Amino acid sequence: MPGQILDGKKTGQDIQEEVKRRVAQYVKDGQRPPGLATVRVGEDPASRVYVNMKHKACERLGIFSERIEKPEETTTEEVVAIVEALNARNDIDGILVQLPLPPQVDEKAALDRIAPSKDVDGFHPVSVGNLWLGREGFVACTPAGIIELLKRNEVELKGKRAVIVGRSNIVGKPMAALLIREHATVTVCHSRTKDLAGVCRQADILVAAMGRPAFITRDFIREGAVVVDVGMNRVADAGEVERLFGDNPVRREGFEKRGYTLVGDVHPRDMKERASLYTPVPGGVGPLTIAMLMRNTLTAYERREGGAD
Ligand code: GUN
Repeated sequence: MPGQILDGKKTGQDIQEEVKRRVAQYVKDGQRPPGLATVRVGEDPASRVYVNMKHKACERLGIFSERIEKPEETTTEEVVAIVEALNARNDIDGILVQLPLPPQVDEKAALDRIAPSKDVDGFHPVSVGNLWLGREGFVACTPAGIIELLKRNEVELKGKRAVIVGRSNIVGKPMAALLIREHATVTVCHSRTKDLAGVCRQADILVAAMGRPAFITRDFIREGAVVVDVGMNRVADAGEVERLFGDNPVRREGFEKRGYTLVGDVHPRDMKERASLYTPVPGGVGPLTIAMLMRNTLTAYERREGGAD
């Protein structure tokens, strides 16, 4: 029997609805709305799309948002000054500096300057430390969203063997901390892991987050495993699209329109055939990231305003 879809779109919408209701209640009670500021430097086309999506979500949910956009040649000092000014603003609860930054901007210097109380991305060392210590703090949106997705779809984590492929600060590492917190037994793999397929085959829950299109194939996936595909790779080669999706008309149409199609880190056919539950790309993990950013912004607001958590 083919695997069932873990519907990130649905779970993401549910989370956004919950945030929207709470925001509306605060505003009805005469309080200001939560506020999110984004900082984008340069012309990375994917970043432009992501930031637009974040502002649209704010608009839908009644969250105030402010967009700061700077040219490619912006310096570290300028980005730091922007962050400092946002730290000092009372109407801004969350600050998000979109990555990647241009190479001349010191990413660490910029991110470290965000006040931990406004660190809705969860990238600040204080947030990361709190996560690993099991203390209250902000958790990176994508891994936090994956935990929500699994829990809301009643995927048992306790005692399960979880294997994460990829050790990035944004996904792999925080994912490991969260799965440990949920009492899973966690292995983190990466490009130097020996017998990667063999390790992955042991997983009850397999999280693929290394950014290589369709790299995880059937021999990596234990029959009946839960597979979470975090990959969002743009594939622009027509032959590759045909190899991955055959003559799927929806894929072909999208590819012809945009010149690329989005492919996860897991081979879509193998994932469907081997997994019991899996996240499709697109429509799996992507929508959760934005939903959790909205929730983190609400949480930052409530902590700063002294409201309910
Ligand atoms: N670039 C890719 N993903 C993210 C994210 O979650 N947050 C930020 N700030 N930049 C990103």
